[in-house]
Amino acid sequence: MDETTSKLAFDTDWQYDPAPESTDHIRIDEQYELFIGGEFVAPKEGRYFDSINPANEKVLARIASAGKDDVDRAVKAARKAYKTSWSKLKPAERGKYIYRIARVLQERAREFAVIESLDGGKPIRESRDIDIPLAAAHFFYYAGWADKLEYAFPGKQVAALGVAGQIIPWNFPLLMAAWKIAPALACGNTVVLKPAETTPLTALKLAEVVRDAGLPPGVVNIITGAGDTGAALVDHPDIDKIAFTGSTAVGRSIQKSLAGTSTKYTLELGGKAANIIFADAAIDEAVEGIVNGIFFNQGHVCCAGSRLLVQESVADEVIRKLKDRMESLIVGDPLDKNTDIGAINSSAQLEKIEDYLRIGQEEGGEIYQSSGTLPDTGYWCRPTLFTGVSQSNRVVQEEIFGPVLTVQTFRTLEEGLDKANNTPYGLSGGVWTDKGAKIFKMTRAIRAGVIWANTFNKFDPASPFGGYKESGMGREGGLHGLDAYLELS
Ligand code: NAI
Ligand code: MG
Repeated sequence: MDETTSKLAFDTDWQYDPAPESTDHIRIDEQYELFIGGEFVAPKEGRYFDSINPANEKVLARIASAGKDDVDRAVKAARKAYKTSWSKLKPAERGKYIYRIARVLQERAREFAVIESLDGGKPIRESRDIDIPLAAAHFFYYAGWADKLEYAFPGKQVAALGVAGQIIPWNFPLLMAAWKIAPALACGNTVVLKPAETTPLTALKLAEVVRDAGLPPGVVNIITGAGDTGAALVDHPDIDKIAFTGSTAVGRSIQKSLAGTSTKYTLELGGKAANIIFADAAIDEAVEGIVNGIFFNQGHVCCAGSRLLVQESVADEVIRKLKDRMESLIVGDPLDKNTDIGAINSSAQLEKIEDYLRIGQEEGGEIYQSSGTLPDTGYWCRPTLFTGVSQSNRVVQEEIFGPVLTVQTFRTLEEGLDKANNTPYGLSGGVWTDKGAKIFKMTRAIRAGVIWANTFNKFDPASPFGGYKESGMGREGGLHGLDAYLELS
């Protein structure tokens, strides 16, 4: 290496050239209607709202806002489809339709990835490599179960529930739609799905896929709107099951609304996962896993590893390496293939994160953020670390849902375990160690639904997902995900 190249390679100002994904192949209409009974129809009250691109605050499209009458129309369409077509089909035929959705999604994967990143702010690398392929994989997986349900539950009679109302959040818009729709259809139910108001576009594109795949009208209905639309769906008397993913506060209100009714429900709520590094772990791999665990998707992940618990003897080394790695993360244009951290999903979410940055410092935490410039418009947050925090601090206890990691140390396995379990949540966790016995001990004792060992944030349609305590009830994914959409007798 001559002197110039070595200077280039080690100059801290060194930047990647921009590598933006093209948007030429994308069609986003100016206005989107409600998908009810197999057609796109205007909302009765004529109300619309905008979905913006959080990376530049520009309006992407006007979206119909479903009122109570529209919710009623959608539920009636789903009921009619359930009675007259979907429940009459042979299970293998149902499976064929679901396979068709999966295949069309794969064919249109690039388009879906770009729209997901435009509407929600997540890096194109993630929407391209994780969200869209996993969404297709869920449809493939559950299509396979459609005609094998009696083998899933040997000795039991299985029957569909009827009409499912499904409400999803903005952090994995298409993937959450797939998690909800695929098992419901495989089990013979029809659905009314409401995407989040900041990220409705890929669900509306999915409505096009459902229509093009020739599903009988009304089997899948997609209605857009904000919280009041969701509440109207929950309160509709002709819904057999509600599946919700989102905040613990809304989960609680749904539980209250449904108490004493025969409507079944599953709730997938927040998290505050501990990622626990023991001194014997492969430290470089662990640091990479911690970074992936909390900075992935801007920390907009219910199972994010938002609390780092590190064994005292390696704490300095881990924190030093973490800071170095954070400095190299690229925050910016979600459509650029080099971007590690995209835009925060909305101004409201950015405000919430910034409140916590203030609260953490007021509580005595020491804040560290990567340097580097942020774009002028749009919603951005640098990767952030809080050291010097304690178990009772709000930043350690509450879900921030942003790229913010708290760091605490522990000496013994028992102390690490106590700290890991000391939150109201129990969705996920991570353990990093060279010792198999420690992995077994920790993974049994951590009160969380999903625990990764020497890795983090890995998903597969075949593995169940769900939480303990305030993280929710019921499981999605795998065989367990079928159970939630069936009456077993
Ligand atoms: P949210 O719970 O309000 O929104 C999730 C979905 O529920 C959206 O589709 C929304 O329109 C709908 N919704 C809102 N109010 C409703 C109601 N009363 N009845 C029925 N549906 C309703 O979440 P929000 O306000 O967007 O985010 C707030 C916090 O929630 C985040 O900062 C994060 O901590 C947490 N969250 C957790 C998620 C998870 O995956 N577990 C996903 C999104 C947010
Ligand atoms: Mg948007």
